[in-house]
Amino acid sequence: MTTNLRWVLARRPEGVPRADDFRLESETLGELQDGQALIKVEHISVDPGMRSRLSGDSYAPALPLGAPIESAGVGNVVASRNAKFKEGTLVWGGFGWQTHFVTDGRGVQALDPEIYNGAIKPTAAIGVFGIPGLTAFFGLFEIGKPKEGNVVLVSSAAGTVGATAGQIAKILGCTAIGLAGSEAKCAYLKEIGFDVAINYKTAGDLTAAFKQAAPKGIDIYFDNVGAETLDAAIVNMRRHGRIVVSGQIAEYNAGGKPRGIRHTLPFITQRLKMEGLVVYDYGVQFAEARAQMAEWVRAGKLTYREEIIEGLEQAPSAFIGLFTGESFGRRLVHVGG
Ligand SMILES: NC(=O)c1ccc[n+]([C@@H]2O[C@H](COP(=O)([O-])OP(=O)(O)OC[C@H]3O[C@@H](n4cnc5c(N)ncnc54)[C@H](OP(=O)(O)O)[C@@H]3O)[C@@H](O)[C@H]2O)c1
Repeated sequence: MTTNLRWVLARRPEGVPRADDFRLESETLGELQDGQALIKVEHISVDPGMRSRLSGDSYAPALPLGAPIESAGVGNVVASRNAKFKEGTLVWGGFGWQTHFVTDGRGVQALDPEIYNGAIKPTAAIGVFGIPGLTAFFGLFEIGKPKEGNVVLVSSAAGTVGATAGQIAKILGCTAIGLAGSEAKCAYLKEIGFDVAINYKTAGDLTAAFKQAAPKGIDIYFDNVGAETLDAAIVNMRRHGRIVVSGQIAEYNAGGKPRGIRHTLPFITQRLKMEGLVVYDYGVQFAEARAQMAEWVRAGKLTYREEIIEGLEQAPSAFIGLFTGESFGRRLVHVGG
């Protein structure tokens, strides 16, 4: 008999989530059925995008009250009645905030030892090679359509999506300008190759700050935050500029009353395009993108930063810290193993 500890949604958050919006529960797992495998979860992710689903429908339906909080995870197969998953296999999938996960194999993949070896740790499967890294890759290539010499502005640039987007822009010969909310994060952006790092919390007038950083205008704005920052970017876009709507974290806690965009005229005068993405739409191309990014990581052209929070009991506070600026890089929770 295995005891599973899991976090469930206790209440729909209003504004920034609070610890008591979540409840820790214990359950006893039954015997494995034919075709099932038991995974002991080692690391789980906390993701800004989950915020919307705690309150209502998003690109995926709202999480029901009492349901386990969904997330990516890496774990170890500890018992198996599924020929595809031998005991001791490291796997990743949508395990959620819990200590154990029973799978019939769907949506769970073994980690490819060709990729996850040496400096590339298994946790990269749910970071730079997982949903955040892939969002940067497909957002930039499919919507941003970068060309050598383009000026690329990235918000929340010290997060995994932002840092990956900025570094890929540099690989392609673009100028990368990153926005982050602290001096330490700005120093990190310079370390990983951004040409300019702007602390948006101390920069004052963002429209003026962007104008100074990109006097000829911005070709691609890779937007992870929305709100005032998006407006300041719109008025600084160059003709035929592209805005990639990856995330809107500054709007996620707005309770259905987002600030929204104020400046729409530049879409006409500068012939701008703005398009959002749901990264899962590019699923058939994930393996190819991952292989390319692994090559860049091995060549030292693409780096990633992980921040590991110890203990499943910390999952809610780790999640809340995404909205306060406390998180720095890919925030994962170490569950065990
Ligand atoms: N479209 C898709 O398919 C897809 C998939 C995955 C993720 N996303 C989105 O991509 C974005 C980045 O994801 P990530 O996983 O890399 O997370 P992340 O950027 O690390 O998100 C956390 C960071 O966001 C910044 N932030 C929080 N509140 C903010 C606010 N009000 N204004 C400005 N910045 C704020 C903080 O950094 P500072 O200290 O710099 O403020 C914080 O540390 C998120 O919006 C996420 O929802 C989209």
